[in-house]
Amino acid sequence: MDIQRVGIVGCGLMGSGIAQCAVEAGCQVLVKEADEAFLAKGLARIHGAWERSVAKGKATPEQRESWLGNLRGTLAFPDLAACDLVVEAIPEHLDLKLKTFAELDQVLSASALLCSNTSSLSVAQLSPALSPERLPRLAGLHFFNPVPAMPLVEIVRTLATGDDTLAALRAFVQKLGKTGVLAPDAPGFIVNRLLVPYLLDAMRCAEQRLAGVDDLDQGMKLGCGHPMGPLHLSDFIGLDTMQSVADVLFDAFGESRFKAPALLRQLVAAGRLGRKSGSGFYRWEGEKRMEALPL
Ligand SMILES: NC(=O)c1ccc[n+]([C@@H]2O[C@H](COP(=O)([O-])OP(=O)(O)OC[C@H]3O[C@@H](n4cnc5c(N)ncnc54)[C@H](O)[C@@H]3O)[C@@H](O)[C@H]2O)c1
Repeated sequence: MDIQRVGIVGCGLMGSGIAQCAVEAGCQVLVKEADEAFLAKGLARIHGAWERSVAKGKATPEQRESWLGNLRGTLAFPDLAACDLVVEAIPEHLDLKLKTFAELDQVLSASALLCSNTSSLSVAQLSPALSPERLPRLAGLHFFNPVPAMPLVEIVRTLATGDDTLAALRAFVQKLGKTGVLAPDAPGFIVNRLLVPYLLDAMRCAEQRLAGVDDLDQGMKLGCGHPMGPLHLSDFIGLDTMQSVADVLFDAFGESRFKAPALLRQLVAAGRLGRKSGSGFYRWEGEKRMEALPL
């Protein structure tokens, strides 16, 4: 199965990146959002990325025109009916995802593949929303942030996922110029199972005043050769997303290393969600990280 028509549900941080990459790989992409304002914001993020590519000479104005022609937006689930593949990238709440999957199951063709970009839920937990015939075509497709820059996609197989589905998804990931790894359908898959305890530990160090935010980040960046420190990365991911992911992993494994620190909950409660809200561990001006903020 050659995947040509791709639907993306949720055009936030991740959905917009997945949509951008799929269009650039030659697919026709339809993004579905919850309301007009979010749709306009999501599409503007993708248009902005293409503007920057043209300004930097990485894409031609003709390429951008052709990409624009292959990207559309909608607010209605039935518009996704012709898609070969739909990737869900809405917030990390099981109830919301179940409701969305039930809607998608009603409108998609029998042959369409359905994937979730969930960071921490088990993909099989979404099965109750689907008809039994859809289950061989359900899988996880877990992209990394920022999607256009990150080369990895975890392809998550449930016990019901068909071999033909996996083959089509492997080919799709390759078409996007990315590398797929087969991951188990266990909370956190491979990367977050290892990464999340590290990020939460860095927050605990900040909470216990082991060192300042800047020094913690510099230590891990320069001492371990990481491209960014753990608190910077947490701001980048979104502290609300970090909290939801930690809660799911803690529920699943019951191990204290997955427990969200009080500091994380306080920052989220204060509206300091990281880059997306303009403040988290750092102050942000758009994409630019500014000074560390008091804790
Ligand atoms: N942020 C990360 O670094 C990261 C990395 C990998 C995976 N993920 C996962 O990707 C998913 C999305 O995360 P995000 O960071 O992009 O979140 P986000 O909050 O940036 O975007 C979610 C979008 O979904 C939209 N939405 C909500 N309900 C909808 C509906 N019914 N129909 C259509 N759109 C709807 C919202 O309006 C919002 O624009 C989550 O499951 C998250 O765990 C996130």
